[in-house]
Amino acid sequence: MKANISVLVSGGGTNLQALIDAQKSGIITSGEINLVISNNPNAYALERAKTNGIKTAVCNKKELGNAFEDELIKILDENKTDIIVLAGFMCILSEQFTTKYANRIINVHPSLIPSFCGKGFYGLRVHEEALKYGVKVTGATVHFVNEIPDGGKIIMQKAVEIKDGDTPEILQKRVMKEAEWKILPLSLEKVCKEIINAGE
Ligand code: GAR
Repeated sequence: MKANISVLVSGGGTNLQALIDAQKSGIITSGEINLVISNNPNAYALERAKTNGIKTAVCNKKELGNAFEDELIKILDENKTDIIVLAGFMCILSEQFTTKYANRIINVHPSLIPSFCGKGFYGLRVHEEALKYGVKVTGATVHFVNEIPDGGKIIMQKAVEIKDGDTPEILQKRVMKEAEWKILPLSLEKVCKEIINAGE
């Protein structure tokens, strides 16, 4: 038995790609990515899913407005989702949503939480703020998602060195390569294994 994984994306999808690669190379064996949902119809992540034969869906927050989360829940439940991965998903989910899927949503964040996290800290902004502050070490965190943005229980973290001359773009790439793309697949496998073991 494998846990049924749905991945939520908004943009380029390099973290989604890391998960697909990890599934192919046998790092993820306790779950299977069966669905990729984007709030952005133009997300390149959707192309990555299609190229790999994974079902896709678009749930457009701008068009759906207040009905956005109801539609998201409908798609997730129709597909019998066991575990939801936020992989560069740029929408904040309500308490109602996070409570419904308690301990069933994980997120990757590009800093060492509790630094540079919470409302307004996403994507490149996180690295801009880390450089502005002058920290010498940053990294990435994978955590469970609850009603507090970036506030759920931490699953894994990995530190990454900041180097002289770093720009936000250079730092973002290093954090992805050295931390996010490694700890997201490892964390997902750990959580899937726990879900399967709990069901036996
Ligand atoms: C990643 O760095 C991810 O950690 C970050 O956005 C990027 C998405 O890249 N997520 C957040 O900031 C969420 N708060 P990707 O689409 O190439 O995976």
